Amino acid sequence: MLIEVAGTGSVVWLEGLPGSGKTTLARQLADALGAAHRPVEVLDGDEVRRGLSPEIGFSREDRDRHARRVGYVANLLSRHGVTVIVALITPYESSRQAVRDLLGPRLLEVWLECPVDVCRARDPKGLYRKAQEGKLQQMTGVDDPFEIPTRPELVIHTGSRTVPQCLDLLREALDRRDSSSLPQGPG
Ligand SMILES: Nc1ncnc2c1ncn2[C@@H]1O[C@H](COP(=O)(O)OP(=O)(O)OP(=O)(O)O)[C@@H](O)[C@H]1O
Ligand SMILES: [Mg+2]
Repeated sequence: MLIEVAGTGSVVWLEGLPGSGKTTLARQLADALGAAHRPVEVLDGDEVRRGLSPEIGFSREDRDRHARRVGYVANLLSRHGVTVIVALITPYESSRQAVRDLLGPRLLEVWLECPVDVCRARDPKGLYRKAQEGKLQQMTGVDDPFEIPTRPELVIHTGSRTVPQCLDLLREALDRRDSSSLPQGPG
């Protein structure tokens, strides 16, 4: 007999350069999960920053602090069974490690790997152009570093794949994660 439990949710943490596709994939994954009646919440960098970290900037220390705050909220939600999708550049390994320490096996860290030239050509928010014109400083990928992730569960090459292909990869990884954390039946 399988005992049904409320269970915890996974946290899909999408990290990558500006323009690598975090928001696009977060929204589409959330739509797909929502359509399947799963409780889901998206924590998207800019929006969440307005609510959680309006007083801080983009220094290493501030970005790290912001990522930890997002991890804290993701932890609360996921403990109540919500699947959380985070869309945050997360440029530093120290932040990723802090989030991993907090979330443990609930974390599905996904690096959206995309060449900076492709991101620059996409420039969905015009940030690369602003940085090039000298109107924006501390832009990740331009004059601020993005440390190569060392322990992501999944790497998706968003520069050479379509959005539906990337979504399929995400769904597969999430399904694997969720089924591996289901309670075991009597053996
Ligand atoms: N395989 C793909 N995955 C995701 N986005 C893609 C892909 N191929 C093309 N795109 C396009 O790339 C752009 C990605 O923009 P998006 O706003 O999602 O980036 P982002 O990572 O959230 O950037 P930012 O850090 O500035 O918020 C969109 O215009 C999207 O349509
Ligand atoms: Mg975005």
